Amino acid sequence: MSLRTCYGKVTDACSNERVRNEGAETRARNWARLLMPSLRWAWTVVLAGTVFAVASEGERRADPQRGREALLTRAYLPVAWSEQTYQNVWKVWGLSERPADFEERFRQRYGLHQAPYPNDGLPMGLRYTRGLLGRGITVDCLLCHGGSLFGQSIIGLGNASLDMQALFEEMFEAQGIKRATPFPFTQVRGTTEGAMMAVYLFRIRDEELRLVPPQNFALTPYLCEDAPAWWLLKKKKTMYHTGSTDARSVRSIMQFLLNPLNGPDHIKSLEPTFADVHAYICGLEPPKYPLAIDQKLAEKGRLLFEKHCARCHGTYGPNGAYPNRIIPLKEIGTDPLRAQAIPKEAKQLYARSWFGQERDSRGRPLIFQEEVGYQAPPLDGVWATAPYFHNGSVPTVYHVLNSKARPRIFTRSFRTGAEDYDTVRLGWKYQELDGAPGPDVPAIERRKVYDTSQPGRSNAGHTYGDNLSDEERFAIIEYLKTL
Ligand code: HEC
Ligand code: HEC
Repeated sequence: MSLRTCYGKVTDACSNERVRNEGAETRARNWARLLMPSLRWAWTVVLAGTVFAVASEGERRADPQRGREALLTRAYLPVAWSEQTYQNVWKVWGLSERPADFEERFRQRYGLHQAPYPNDGLPMGLRYTRGLLGRGITVDCLLCHGGSLFGQSIIGLGNASLDMQALFEEMFEAQGIKRATPFPFTQVRGTTEGAMMAVYLFRIRDEELRLVPPQNFALTPYLCEDAPAWWLLKKKKTMYHTGSTDARSVRSIMQFLLNPLNGPDHIKSLEPTFADVHAYICGLEPPKYPLAIDQKLAEKGRLLFEKHCARCHGTYGPNGAYPNRIIPLKEIGTDPLRAQAIPKEAKQLYARSWFGQERDSRGRPLIFQEEVGYQAPPLDGVWATAPYFHNGSVPTVYHVLNSKARPRIFTRSFRTGAEDYDTVRLGWKYQELDGAPGPDVPAIERRKVYDTSQPGRSNAGHTYGDNLSDEERFAIIEYLKTL
């Protein structure tokens, strides 16, 4: 067996050893740009308020509390929809009047969760912001990185319910713009085309993030990605499903800001803010399993886990160690597309760009690494993060441990209550289907079905539990509940 540990030298995500922002120099440039009379930059004036806020903060260490505030009280993308659009979107649901439980239906239709912080009545992932034409609504990181379980919203839990495609299409339709998104955001509910979206946005930027005509990158929008739980970042040396990036990188978590209306200087000026957000993410803890755990069975499971699983997933408890292994595709055997689909030209541009120029305090690049397979993630709080694998192709931990029993085509409620959760197999209750719905079924319903025969959606591989007995699998599952 060939295991690759690529990153012996780097320190882990939260060691605060990353070089601080370019500080004063960048800010001086920001002001110069802002004062430039050129029309091309005129719109940056709109952003002056934000730039000023950052400029006045001065040189500083990353701070998790400030990061929390930055994440939960500020918008980083321009207004997408008017307030009225939100209030009227039920009209495109085929209803004749506004339902009394509009807010709840809105959350359920698009897979959003109540905000566990003040958010003016909007669900997690949406927020009010001000634009040229007044107050409007935009999206934020928690659209994909905020979920819920048993009626409790959890910041940092990947959103396993989201239909980002429906949200965007229907909100734009309610705003009078009836057209498909320029690029698919979601092929299957509960997943997004996260990495390919970044490539899409990067197509119109040069090294310094200036807008350029679209470059000809091949797009493969079939990744169906499950967003990793944020609380795992602090253990990692490398992040993203493929372990392509040093986990200390701040700039890489800013890719989502590449909306064409965000200018290069504005994006760069937010680096200290996102250093704070990174510090906040690094402080998050996994949610505790809320039901009873059979401790004797869990102890049996621990021994089995240490024998069969720990070499990749690490050990836990006070002396636990996480090996940060990246397992090559032919060894792990899960769907290869995510590791293969990002075009070489896009990676090269990324590496040459402002993102790729990030350095740690010793001047070493936090670069985009070769993608050879998938990182074996830490399993803290894994009970809460179904569905499993980077493409969300497996509904429960039991099925991770028994590749032959995995459902081929399945659907689920996309709700997150106690009645939707399978406490025995650990994960989502699901319903297996004989076939995938045809083109006559509306797209919003088709996206509720996970068809593992489609590109990017294979549920094969990771056969490390196949030789265990069910008794052993359930012991390991019991142990995983304690992490
Ligand atoms: C459209 C959904 C979406 C949005 C919005 C989004 N992310 Fe993500 N995020 C993802 C997906 C999907 C991944 C996994 C990408 C991969 O590895 O290919 C990810 C990965 C990450 C990771 C790495 C986690 C790990 O352990 O490897 C961090 C950190 C992160 N995002 C932070 C952010 C921040 C901060 C924002 C807001 C600025 C944000 N994300 C916005 C979908 C999203
Ligand atoms: C050879 C290394 C290796 C071994 C051994 C191994 N795993 Fe994994 N495991 C991985 C990798 C790599 C992934 C990610 C695969 C992907 O997303 O495509 C993974 C994914 C998982 C996941 C899904 C995590 C998530 O959040 O999606 C679980 C659960 C898991 N493994 C449990 C186990 C258990 C339990 C064992 C022991 C029976 C085990 N693994 C043995 C490498 C390994």
